[in-house]
Amino acid sequence: MLNDLKGKTALVSGAAQGIGQAIARSYHTAGAHLILVDQSLDPLKTLKEEFGEKTSIVEVDISDAEQLETKLSPILKKNKAVDILVNNAAARTRRAPITELSLEEWQTAISVNLTGAFLISKMVIPQMQALGNGVIINIASQLGHVAIKGAVPYCTTKGGILQFTRALALDHAEDGIRVVALSPGAVLTPRLTEIYGTAEEAEKALKTAYPLGRLGEAEDIAKAALFLASDASSFITGTDLLVDGGYSAQ
Ligand SMILES: NC(=O)c1ccc[n+]([C@@H]2O[C@H](COP(=O)([O-])OP(=O)(O)OC[C@H]3O[C@@H](n4cnc5c(N)ncnc54)[C@H](O)[C@@H]3O)[C@@H](O)[C@H]2O)c1
Repeated sequence: MLNDLKGKTALVSGAAQGIGQAIARSYHTAGAHLILVDQSLDPLKTLKEEFGEKTSIVEVDISDAEQLETKLSPILKKNKAVDILVNNAAARTRRAPITELSLEEWQTAISVNLTGAFLISKMVIPQMQALGNGVIINIASQLGHVAIKGAVPYCTTKGGILQFTRALALDHAEDGIRVVALSPGAVLTPRLTEIYGTAEEAEKALKTAYPLGRLGEAEDIAKAALFLASDASSFITGTDLLVDGGYSAQ
């Protein structure tokens, strides 16, 4: 059956809330066993209660190689091999021109949004190679395609993750591993409501820029992520799926 993930193991980073949580929930509903990774533990515990005891949760900063080694590695060794990896977690970078940003703010964006995806992919790919298949989904952004003011680190890393996707896809196509990017438009998650104050304010400020006349819901992204993880997309690799309500068509 298309969109069936029964028997699969999926690792989702940034699973505690927003898009990552919606993806984890849709994979759970499709039958996958989950490894949920985030730096925020309490919401992961709540998700484990919802999804069941077999769910693994890992509290870790994905940009920290040592933490990944001590906290994620043992879980990967203990579990069945990972079939699906979703590199979703991303840092929140203050909106400002680079003249007002510190080196640390720039480095945080690079190390979470790019190095985090590099480190976890590096840990999981040998398992996928042994299986002879696997899917890596990198959550990029419409801001990897077009830019907005005051977001140089974010736009740079999201453009970078698109190239990471293409290059990684070429390296591992022969291993049977597909690597794809998924680029959301503005989606009503805690990330967006924090920037605009409330969901209503975010809608008011942004929705006229979206031809479909609304902002995205986390579930819109989760549906696309389910398609990309499943056999329904078995001939798709090295490319990006824009789920942006038509924003970048203009
Ligand atoms: N919401 C949007 O409008 C939008 C638009 C385009 C792309 N995206 C992308 O979608 C993804 C998810 O976005 P969201 O809106 O759900 O974000 P969010 O900020 O609401 O949630 C991100 C999650 O990642 C976790 N996280 C952040 N840094 C981490 C780290 N170093 N280690 C471990 N976990 C970490 C956070 O704790 C949080 O649970 C991100 O890659 C984001 O760039 C979001």
